[in-house]
Amino acid sequence: MKILVLNGSPTPNGNTVALVNAFKEGAESKGHDVNVVNVAHKNIKGCMACNFCKNAGNGTCAQKDDMQEIYPLIQDADMIVFASPIYYFIMSAQLESVIHRFYAITSPKKAKYSALLLSSYSSNVYSGAMAQYKDMIGYMGMTDKGIITADNSTNKTPEKLAEARALGESL
Ligand SMILES: Cc1cc2nc3c(=O)[nH]c(=O)nc-3n(C[C@H](O)[C@H](O)[C@H](O)COP(=O)(O)O)c2cc1C
Repeated sequence: MKILVLNGSPTPNGNTVALVNAFKEGAESKGHDVNVVNVAHKNIKGCMACNFCKNAGNGTCAQKDDMQEIYPLIQDADMIVFASPIYYFIMSAQLESVIHRFYAITSPKKAKYSALLLSSYSSNVYSGAMAQYKDMIGYMGMTDKGIITADNSTNKTPEKLAEARALGESL
C-alpha cells in the first residue's frame, strides 16, 4: 500500500516523530511505501470557505500554498495516517489546517484505511482528537486500522515504540 503520514508536530526529533518513525519502520518491513509529510513546516493556510472548489474550481483549491503539493499525495494514497501532538485537547493547528483543506476534494479518491498517532504530556486528553478522527474518517469513507497514544509516562519508551511498529507490521 501507499501510506501517507501527515505529521502535525513541529518538533523534529520529538515524541510524535518517534511514533511516526516506529510505525514507518514496521510498515516498510512489510513492503509498504510510506511517505511522511511534516505539515507543520509547510505553508498551509486554513480554509477560507470561498467555495471555489465546489464551483468553478471543480475540486481544486483557490489557495495556492503548499497544500497544492499535498493534494496529489492524498489522492494517490491507499492509507492516510494522522500524527500529532495534543495541543489543548485536539490535534495541532497545523494538522487541523490540512484537515480543513480536505474540503476541496471532500474525500480521498483511493484511501480506504487510516490510523491515528497522538502524543501528549498528560494521559486521558485524547477524547476530542479521537472523536474528530472517528467522525472524519467515517465521513471520508476510511476504516480505522489503529490508534496509538503516548503520554509523558510512555513517550519514546521501547514498549510504546514497539506498539507503533506492530501497527505498521499489521498492515
Ligand atoms: C501549544 C501546546 C499545547 C499543548 N497542550 C497539551 C494538552 O492539552 N494536553 C497535554 O497533555 N499536553 C499538551 N501539550 C504537550 C504536548 O502534547 C506534548 O509535549 C507532546 O508530547 C509534544 O509532542 P512533540 O514532541 O511531537 O512536539 C501541549 C504542548 C504545546 C506546545
